[in-house]
Amino acid sequence: MIRVEDLCYNYNAKSKSSISALKNINFTLKNSTIMGIIGKTGSGKSTLAQLLCGLLSPTHGKIFLNEKEIIKDFKNTKEICFNVTMAFQYPENQLFEKTVYDEIAFGPRNKGISESKIKDIVFEVIKFTNISENMLKCSPIFLSGGEKRKCAIASVMALKSKVLILDEPTAGLDCKSKSQLMNSIFEYHRKEKNILIIISHNMEETARICDKVLVLDEGIQLMFDSPVKVFKNYQKLEKLNLDVPQTSQIMRYINNEYPINTDIMFPKEAEEEILKILNSKGVER
Ligand SMILES: Nc1ncnc2c1ncn2[C@@H]1O[C@H](COP(=O)(O)OP(=O)(O)OP(=O)(O)O)[C@@H](O)[C@H]1O
Ligand SMILES: [Mg+2]
Repeated sequence: MIRVEDLCYNYNAKSKSSISALKNINFTLKNSTIMGIIGKTGSGKSTLAQLLCGLLSPTHGKIFLNEKEIIKDFKNTKEICFNVTMAFQYPENQLFEKTVYDEIAFGPRNKGISESKIKDIVFEVIKFTNISENMLKCSPIFLSGGEKRKCAIASVMALKSKVLILDEPTAGLDCKSKSQLMNSIFEYHRKEKNILIIISHNMEETARICDKVLVLDEGIQLMFDSPVKVFKNYQKLEKLNLDVPQTSQIMRYINNEYPINTDIMFPKEAEEEILKILNSKGVER
């Protein structure tokens, strides 16, 4: 479980140019939960992610992982890293090993896991991320942008931490790669039953896989609720220049002319709802 209590973070806290990036954030995440963090550029999403994995230390407030306070109650940063792993925005920029295999094996090796077990882990996570076995001998620098991203995400998955944080994992990928990668991340979560935190500007993605959504605006926590409840507040979100899932928008337009369930966020459910209404009116398919 993760518990965040009254968390505040100021960059350059002690200088005159101090920037308040997060103000009084509070939330609790049970095990096996997926949380999406949304908010416009500069709203504090990446700052929160770095606090959760102990890269930054709170200016005020506390973060607990299973009742242990992050940084304070952990022996060292390595111990935090093994419990909370993060892939940064554009993680491909951080690839540094000679081969894709070594890149993925880097975390487990640091954890002291045996080479034979590491091999199993590498072969397991490449399946999740759709990396072919032939690619394992390649140097990461020669991979395409999307392949590098997959390799970077496989390397954080390999750590099998209790909490996995992905900062905009699908940014810059084409449509098909985006949905493939999201499906793989979701499958991995279902298997590992970890806490997964995903920062995303893609509202469809967020609505589809998240149990909870945290909305940040200028470092302030605007909402923390289920996707349905968050996206119901479309007027608030649109004021922040945030999208809502397209299907919810369409359902709202229809609702202006005809009463319909506006909580629907996915095309398949929308189709069923619209057909139900048409059938009740005696309209043939
Ligand atoms: N190292 C830093 N030093 C000073 N200010 C910083 C630093 N990093 C971030 N900030 C400021 O903190 C605020 C929050 O930044 P953060 O990177 O957390 O936003 P974000 O929500 O992740 O944005 P984006 O969607 O663009 O990635 C911004 O005003 C940013 O300028
Ligand atoms: Mg960011």
